[in-house]
Amino acid sequence: MHYIESGAGTPLVLLHAFPVDARMWNPLRSRLEEQARVITPDQRGLGESSLDGTTARGMIEPAAAPLTVDRPSVDVAAADVLELLDQLELPRVVLGGCSMGGYVAMAVLRAAPQRVAGLLLVDTKAPADTDEQRTNRLNVASRAEQEGTGGWLAENMLPNLLGAATREKRPEVVGDLRALIEAQPADGVAWAQRAMAARPDSFEALRAFDGPAMVAVGAEDTITPPAAAREMADALPRGELVELAGSGHLPSLEAPDALADAVRPWLAGIGV
Ligand code: MLT
Repeated sequence: MHYIESGAGTPLVLLHAFPVDARMWNPLRSRLEEQARVITPDQRGLGESSLDGTTARGMIEPAAAPLTVDRPSVDVAAADVLELLDQLELPRVVLGGCSMGGYVAMAVLRAAPQRVAGLLLVDTKAPADTDEQRTNRLNVASRAEQEGTGGWLAENMLPNLLGAATREKRPEVVGDLRALIEAQPADGVAWAQRAMAARPDSFEALRAFDGPAMVAVGAEDTITPPAAAREMADALPRGELVELAGSGHLPSLEAPDALADAVRPWLAGIGV
């Protein structure tokens, strides 16, 4: 699994949203790295992680290592994260995830809660998909496989991913996000959509987690709105809710100062 790492201090693993990669965390990383060892993996099939979950893209020798692809599942993505923690010899970390990354973080919580010293959920939600959402995802997966991801994926997703304030006043953020989306391979996009479509409800895992938990949400998020964040904060015994003004679904890109200001004191209180 490919990952970017920087900083020193509390180990903080941040899992990215769909359909982007670990680079979405760069603005937040630079604001936390004096306090935290920030580790941001690319989920399998996205960024520089290969779809078979073993090596970085471009490093596979097809003859020597035939590609075997696991069934799409957030549990498989969670197992990749746990394997990375083993590889880095990190028994416990503060685990964060934005949107799809939050679904994977909750899957880690279901599989190995003892590895999670603190939980940071950013613009995500705990329920499983409705039938309609699942059908949409499977359609996006098929379209990505048939047409590739150029153009239409970014066009369809940008208006929902970014808040109105960002879209209207910050063309550089819109451009950066478009480039991140355009960089994602079709097979990884399809795998991630199918994995998300199959994910279960996570409320039970949240109710059972007695560690510190922060739930952050952009006030303008329409994909996983503040009401969904409140539900998670209410389910978490030690859940703290933070609403970020002027941000949509991706506060690491849209409101990194406000997100970092919320995370710093919370992180300082967590012993790993
Ligand atoms: C994401 O940002 O990861 C996706 O919008 C999540 C989703 O499609 O549910």
